[in-house]
Amino acid sequence: MDREKKIAKLKSKRAEALLGGGEKRIVKQHKKGKLTARERINLLLDEDSFEEFDMFKEHHCTDLGMEKKKFLGDGVVVGSGTINERVVYVYAQDFTIIGGSLSKSVSEKICKIMDMAMKMGAPIIGLNDSGGARIQEGVDSLAGYADIFLKNVMASGVVPQISAIVGPCAGGAVYSPAITDFIIMDKKNSYMFVTGPKVVKTVTNEDVTTRELGGAMTHAQKSGVSHFVTANEENTFKLIRKLLSYIPSNNYEDPPVESCSDPLDRYSEKLNTIVPDDPSKPYDMVELIKLVVDNGEFLEVARHFAPNIVVGFARMNGHSVGVVANQPKYLAGTLDIHASQKAARFIRFCDSFNIPLVNFEDVPGFLPGLKQEHGGIIKEGAKLLYAYAEATVPKITVITRKAYGGAYCVFNSRHVRGDLVYAWPTAEIAVMGPKGAVKIIFSKEAKKADDPQKYLEEAEQEYIEKFASPYQAASKGYIDDIIEPATTRARLIRSLEMLATKKDTNPPKKHGNIPL
Ligand code: HXC
Repeated sequence: MDREKKIAKLKSKRAEALLGGGEKRIVKQHKKGKLTARERINLLLDEDSFEEFDMFKEHHCTDLGMEKKKFLGDGVVVGSGTINERVVYVYAQDFTIIGGSLSKSVSEKICKIMDMAMKMGAPIIGLNDSGGARIQEGVDSLAGYADIFLKNVMASGVVPQISAIVGPCAGGAVYSPAITDFIIMDKKNSYMFVTGPKVVKTVTNEDVTTRELGGAMTHAQKSGVSHFVTANEENTFKLIRKLLSYIPSNNYEDPPVESCSDPLDRYSEKLNTIVPDDPSKPYDMVELIKLVVDNGEFLEVARHFAPNIVVGFARMNGHSVGVVANQPKYLAGTLDIHASQKAARFIRFCDSFNIPLVNFEDVPGFLPGLKQEHGGIIKEGAKLLYAYAEATVPKITVITRKAYGGAYCVFNSRHVRGDLVYAWPTAEIAVMGPKGAVKIIFSKEAKKADDPQKYLEEAEQEYIEKFASPYQAASKGYIDDIIEPATTRARLIRSLEMLATKKDTNPPKKHGNIPL
């Protein structure tokens, strides 16, 4: 064959590969409201930055007629490109090729780019749209999944891993996204479950739709498996680009810095009045966060799950920070099982990737009750404590109102290596709230008093004056300063600058034993 023919052959093969499972299946994919793997990658990455690998790789299965069912590239498109000019590695399962099912070859392609990402220190982004294990390949396909899972685990804490679910993700396949740092699901076409509605019906006799069982809102609200819900795929890709803007490419780098147009010493009058005089009245912690951070921009993570705690990314003077805050609007900001899990995971992510933690505290304690105790609030709450204590990134707390009981200790107090703890004058730092406290310590005396009610009220007043303020904690050095709320932004920015060179370590060990 002469050179021209060889080049023509290459071009025709490339054109064939670019069509994936063929035009008919592409039309079918579009009819479902889904994009093709390459369309998705092009939307995700900077224009013309995608370099594809293994376009000609095929499966090698000869069972069940598979020798006649071959497509160039098999069921996944892999390669590298850039997002905001930073290198990322990406794989997109191609549903038009045998339902994006995972063959040994598909797994090898995914593993190849995961290895490259690890070597080069760049994020891995997976776009999941697959019928799961390629049934015809049997155990080879299962082996392929397990190979990916292992690489997910090895990459955890080394390079950021983001999973977009843009179609089915079922069976054991869910465990790759589950190990990654963030899962994004769109409301239209994504679902995740270990066993589908039909199996559920057979085993437990429950009637459930695909969406109820594993749709985007189910995982955002009920299971907490996913971290973000989007209206459609396009928004998913925009969100991934935004998310990455807060995160470094690997655990040795610092997060990207952006220029800051928001005045560093911006005095926010509104913060002086945001906490209501009545300690039982709620306020919106997200509003408070937005008043403090650069330009009011806050990317909330897992917004629909355990809303009694708020976590997310923001910038202070252009530097990325992870924000953790109790939300008095829900369950009075108490810490329950889900809130503890949600915050602990976020803290560990930030710590893995050198993102300082800014914490706003207004917590009346751990949520009481049979459900919580039987559900293991002891070990789940311990996760949060463990995560804060173990984290070595700069950690600052601002106590806006309540810091009661065990929750005071857990929530990045100085005692668990919080670097700086500030309190607003509205802070109340005590073992418990005034009402509960006086009932416990003065009930006997009250019974003996002429007017028990009056006795308790007076005792409560004394308790409030003594403990429902930040001054006792400040007198003991447990907090570093009492600050005017309106000056919080300036104070935090200066503190973060001061802590920027922080170096702290944990004792050498194989790994700790976080109470899972
Ligand atoms: C082989 C598969 C496949 C699979 C889909 N296809 N899933 N081929 N192995 N797992 C093929 C179909 O035969 C079809 O081929 C094409 O992909 C498109 O599938 P359709 O069924 O036409 O698409 P749709 O109607 O949209 O339904 C999508 C689907 C359905 C809901 C995902 O295909 C399905 O239920 N697939 C099986 C899902 C499953 O049970 N997977 C195993 C999960 S267990 P043609 O040639 O017609 O285009 C698992 C274990 C992992 O994954 C363990 C890891 C440790």
